[in-house]
Amino acid sequence: MHAAVHEVTPEATLELAGLPTMTRPTIVSVVGTRPNMMKIGPIAAELARLDEFDHVLIHTGQHYDREMFEIFIEQLEMRPPDHVLGIGPGTHAQQTARVMERLEPLLAEIMPALVLVPGDVNSTLGAALTAAKLVLPIGHVEAGLRSFDRTMPEELNRILTDQLSCLLFIHSPEAQGNLLSEGRPASAIFNVGNTMIDSLVRLSTAIDGRRTPHELGLESEGYVVVTLHRPALVETELLTIAMSQLRSLSRDIPVVFPVHPRTRARLERAGIVGDERLHLLPPLGYIEFLSLLKGAAAILTDSGGIQEEATYLGIRCFTLRENTERPITVELGTNILLGLAPDRIAEIPQMLASSPPASDALPPLWDGHAARRIVEVIRSHVGTLGATAAGHPSSG
Ligand code: UD1
Repeated sequence: MHAAVHEVTPEATLELAGLPTMTRPTIVSVVGTRPNMMKIGPIAAELARLDEFDHVLIHTGQHYDREMFEIFIEQLEMRPPDHVLGIGPGTHAQQTARVMERLEPLLAEIMPALVLVPGDVNSTLGAALTAAKLVLPIGHVEAGLRSFDRTMPEELNRILTDQLSCLLFIHSPEAQGNLLSEGRPASAIFNVGNTMIDSLVRLSTAIDGRRTPHELGLESEGYVVVTLHRPALVETELLTIAMSQLRSLSRDIPVVFPVHPRTRARLERAGIVGDERLHLLPPLGYIEFLSLLKGAAAILTDSGGIQEEATYLGIRCFTLRENTERPITVELGTNILLGLAPDRIAEIPQMLASSPPASDALPPLWDGHAARRIVEVIRSHVGTLGATAAGHPSSG
């Protein structure tokens, strides 16, 4: 039996323990990649609405193309970042090290009351490590997810970031047990819900108004969306197999594939091009992509966050990975793990014809209010965290 974690319900009124009355505390959020923005955007909006903190947004520049960066800032209605570190591409060590080198002087100057980091990318770990070395308290948004596959760089980034964080914001039931079994204290774990779903809920009107499928000449529920970007798939010969399977699939049902820059480079090198049934598109904006996903018969992906968005929208998801750090999406029946086995793409028409419609059950607290709960926790703990960085929040 696990010790109880904090359930932060919308009704909860949290005591304002230790909040300084004279100066406004500063919160720094560090983002680096496309999916980080959907996770921090709603928190930035809630902090602005509350107007009790100075919020500094730092973008590491891990993603730097307009279609991977600025368009998300605009569509998520975020204020442009206060600082962009320009770390760019590189090996894992280079990216992590560049974040550390460029972030350290900024954090040392700001000395925020809390550093917020979302997700599991190299920028997340680089920022957490930098803050921890400066003995700054860290809050991890999307804590406790585990694939139990340490060959994935994201898994190392998750485990280490959780070890360094004193506020662990979880959105999936199993995250609590994962964190407790790694020695993280129950008092640091806050079950708040999913800020990525907050973004989806906030922008649902814009998403419904966008009509991306119609613009592409696609019928509602008459196409499959594809996203593939993980090195284990796209930097091996598996990509060629996947593309040939997708071409076959597209004879049954049109396939729409917004291509990540990493994947685009590989396809170009291999001379692989699309056709009128296998649509290869540039990366789409958030609103365009969600509009496309919402109208799809299914999605095939190796992304993490898209498994969650598909579950929320009740769209069948086929995941081309051996494992998932998001088992709730499988338990609820919307997500099927195909393995790292692109040959299995051939089974999709059969599975679409025979599998029951996706369930409309949702994980607890995926309700559009996660950011509000996170900011409530921050309000009640900021000012009590300084001496307990990498430990656990004092009870206030
Ligand atoms: C990173 C994350 C991954 C996340 C993904 C979301 C890590 C370890 N990986 O992977 O967890 O799911 O972001 O997209 O942090 N590139 C561009 N333009 C850009 C961004 C990248 O051309 O705006 C190119 C880079 O130059 C590089 C390649 O795409 O050649 C990969 O970028 P990188 O940030 O290293 O990793 P991702 O595959 O995006």
